[in-house]
Amino acid sequence: MAESMKGLKRTCRCGELSVANEGQNVTVMGWVAKQRNKGGIIFVDLRDRSGLLQIIFEEADCGSAHFAKAERLRSEFVIAVTGRVEKRSGAVNENLSTGQIEVRAREVRVLSEAQTPPFPIESASRTKEEIRLKYRYLDLRRPDQQEKIILRSKICAAVRRFLTDEGFLEIETPILCKSTPEGARDYLVPSRVHPGSFYALPQSPQLFKQLLMCSGFDRYFQIAKCFRDEDLRADRQPEFTQIDMELSFVDVDDVIDVNERLLQYICREAVGLSVSLPLPRIKWIDAMNRYGSDKPDTRFGMELTDVSQVVAGCGFGVFTGALENGGTVRGINARGQAAMPRKKIDALVDFARGYGAKGLAYLAIQEDGSYKSSFAKFMTQKQLDDLVAAMDGRPGDLLLFAADQTKIVWSVLGALRVELGEQMGLIDHNRFDFLWVVEFPQFEYSEEEGRYVAMHHPFTMPMEEDLNRLESDPGSVRAKAYDIVLNGVELGGGSVRIFQDDVQERMFEALGFTKEKAHEQFGFLLDAFQYGVPPHAGLAYGLDRLCMLLTGAESIREVIAFPKVKDASCLMTSCPNTVDQKQLEELGIRVAEPEGSF
Ligand code: AMO
Ligand code: AMP
Repeated sequence: MAESMKGLKRTCRCGELSVANEGQNVTVMGWVAKQRNKGGIIFVDLRDRSGLLQIIFEEADCGSAHFAKAERLRSEFVIAVTGRVEKRSGAVNENLSTGQIEVRAREVRVLSEAQTPPFPIESASRTKEEIRLKYRYLDLRRPDQQEKIILRSKICAAVRRFLTDEGFLEIETPILCKSTPEGARDYLVPSRVHPGSFYALPQSPQLFKQLLMCSGFDRYFQIAKCFRDEDLRADRQPEFTQIDMELSFVDVDDVIDVNERLLQYICREAVGLSVSLPLPRIKWIDAMNRYGSDKPDTRFGMELTDVSQVVAGCGFGVFTGALENGGTVRGINARGQAAMPRKKIDALVDFARGYGAKGLAYLAIQEDGSYKSSFAKFMTQKQLDDLVAAMDGRPGDLLLFAADQTKIVWSVLGALRVELGEQMGLIDHNRFDFLWVVEFPQFEYSEEEGRYVAMHHPFTMPMEEDLNRLESDPGSVRAKAYDIVLNGVELGGGSVRIFQDDVQERMFEALGFTKEKAHEQFGFLLDAFQYGVPPHAGLAYGLDRLCMLLTGAESIREVIAFPKVKDASCLMTSCPNTVDQKQLEELGIRVAEPEGSF
């Protein structure tokens, strides 16, 4: 039977006590992590969000009724204990902040009893994630899990403090929005009042924050919920949070400056990590050429080498064929991996295929200087020697090559580089490498849609010096767009926005929008620009990704209190779920039979 806490007041959290509190009378409340009955003496480890505290019960101190209650305590009971802080009677526990003390109980109240939890409430759980997420409220009791959620809160507090001090205003923007299908797929919400009409949940506050600039707020930020119906991965959720901002009367360097200082502040305040400024910057084209990625992990080398010139005219058809088709041949040098067994190389080839490669050519330089290779027989000794020299190959090295369209070669070798970096233990997991990637291309050609699409979004300003090629050679136009990358993960991105309507019109044209379509979708923004618009720019971070990286979590699910799983469902609440017929009728919605059923 649960007792009330009437007349009791918690004086502190468990983990806040230390030898400094010796002799004090305290009341602590929390969950029983463990109860050990030593016959005549009962020890209880009491847990709350601040840590563990040892309670000692002896009948002589608390009397028989309380001692009897202590005997019945089991894991996860919620209790209140009043007693005195003393030096530990037994062995000191060096691993605990409260390890030198214990509370000698005078009184205990059982506030709530508990069933045995489906998995042990302890750090470094080995319980399967599906079970943990079904009982997420219990999973969140685990100390290492709590640490991550607490750190997230600290990061949010640091963001608010820093940006407020820098003159930013926190302003909320709507969650029920207009659907603008550029970008990811929208989540739609049916309207009851307007049957057949839908709201969309925001993919980001992009348009609203630009409108706030038109309104003169100058510096805006928001910790904003965003929704994107896209395929999920370890660093993607359908519902995620951005640290979103927009600034007026600024250019690229101003945005970068305030954001570098923000990142430095967050790292110092939240995890005690010192970050030196300025952060390095790399142009997009250099990032692709050197790392095969627009979010390079710069904690290790193994950069890509373009060997197209070296293999031009060689006898290996895979290489020359790719070059004849306008592609390239590039390689990476896995140092000291020449002895890699064939099976492991085959696994790398399969890995490469997963990124669109047709194959992966390799050359191992044996300790005696001879070569073992999948293509040696197609090339002369001189051609092979030249190729090895171009790759800075030394005895013991394994050279891996991809030949294809440049985009595919980048993606294959970029992914392979990271995979090998992990396999070979080249990545220092204590390092935090921030990097700005700048001068992104304005457009990306979409084979699927048969047109250019905006690489960032349609409101991104091209670099002034490239503006005259907007119509004649869109593929070569660079944007005033920037991404911030941390350890190979895209942490955030943004751009300087177009604020001249003639440029915006040319942009929509380049993207294949008719005037009517542009106005139908973005008319309110274009209208706003008619009434005095300041030059503006902004950026948004993925807060979940930032928390994941700063806590060393493997997935963003660990830093989200109630995450969704791969199929975008919530295992705890079982959503999405079907709804009452009546609800559907109110909304004027009829659900189609799934395809293939009768
Ligand atoms: P962008 O689309 O690049 O830019 O998003 C900004 C950052 O949000 C994070 N992010 C995600 N995190 C978790 N799950 C997802 N599904 C997901 N999608 C994106 C990433 C990304 O870098 N409005 C622009 C920003 C701007 O121009 O100001 C925008 O949304 O970390
Ligand atoms: P094949 O002539 O198809 O047997 O290929 C010979 C070698 O070249 C094998 O090791 C293949 O994996 C490799 N290979 C095939 N296609 C490519 C490609 N596009 N890029 C790099 N290597 C390739």
